Amino acid sequence: MTSVLRSVVTGVGSYLPDRVVTNADLSKVVDTSDQWIRERTGIQERRKAAPDQAASDLAVAAATRALAAAGRTPADVDLIVVATTTPDLTFPATAAIVQRKLGCPVGVAFDVQAVCSGFVYALSVADGFVGRGRSKCALVIGAETMTRLMDWTDRGTCVLFGDGAGAVVLEPRVGEGSTADRGLLGFALRADGAKQDLLYVDGGVSSNGQIGHLRMQGNQVFRHAVVNISEAIHAAADDAGIAVDSVDWFIPHQANQRILEGVARRVGIDEAKVISTVAQHANTSAASIPLALDAGVRDGRVKPGQLLLLEAMGGGLTWGACVLRL
Ligand code: ACO
Repeated sequence: MTSVLRSVVTGVGSYLPDRVVTNADLSKVVDTSDQWIRERTGIQERRKAAPDQAASDLAVAAATRALAAAGRTPADVDLIVVATTTPDLTFPATAAIVQRKLGCPVGVAFDVQAVCSGFVYALSVADGFVGRGRSKCALVIGAETMTRLMDWTDRGTCVLFGDGAGAVVLEPRVGEGSTADRGLLGFALRADGAKQDLLYVDGGVSSNGQIGHLRMQGNQVFRHAVVNISEAIHAAADDAGIAVDSVDWFIPHQANQRILEGVARRVGIDEAKVISTVAQHANTSAASIPLALDAGVRDGRVKPGQLLLLEAMGGGLTWGACVLRL
């Protein structure tokens, strides 16, 4: 065994805006029903940020809880990576706004844009700093106000998304180079830009100067999801040197209960090991994995030392998976 530096999750936190929007509420906005949404997606309700809440506000609340869980303060933070598709401003990066609002010292702060896969991508990027000794205390945050991207006349998309944020603190720890080490153990990241038309936002700074609305060919995305995610899971497990069925908890991006179950079945993970928050949170894009992780940690299911498998797929298309020991 050789000693290696590992990026270890030392704290987890999340935040959901107060306002709950139920399926019944949405049935007053578009031609839909609680039954249709539950049967096709598993979603029962989602949260909506208040008009004066930006992605950075959700991020700050989640990060504050993660820092408290890690026994750290904003003064310790030297790196902030925010995964978001719904930044406060075109620039500066939401991460820099979070740095200011938290009162962190001068350090490194930037955003990662990989839509729903953003948190997995951001963990990998942060690992490049923490795992090489270039950050002693990093915040990796997924924060989204997806409801701001909805076309509220499109029942095929507006019922699927919600707002929220989740965060982890990453710190370097010396490991022995085995799968028994705590920390980020393996990754697989993928993108296929040729499939842009399946899921995108029809606006942007350098195209039409509009924020735009989310557009999705849901059934096509669904078709790709299970196959793509399963491949990435096996690749991440190989990268980590673990067997997929040895994970303690499977914490997927929360887009659709049927996708979660389909992936678990395909890769041979017991359904009882799947952390699912899609019923309460809906799809919060880059925030959904750390929100689900925090739910599992806070209710006592997910414990330090356990082996976790994270995965996501989103616009790009992008997808990926990460194996870590908490
Ligand atoms: N309420 C009632 N009916 C609806 C609704 C709704 N909210 N939305 C669509 N329908 C109708 C359609 O109009 C269609 O009617 P028609 O047959 O009369 O034309 C019918 O339901 C079936 O439509 P489909 O789109 O084929 O329905 P499907 O079973 O595929 O379910 C869904 C749609 C839930 C979007 C599903 O395709 C899905 O979950 N796809 C994956 C999407 C996803 O996970 N995206 C996120 C991943 S990436 C990211 O997180 C950004």
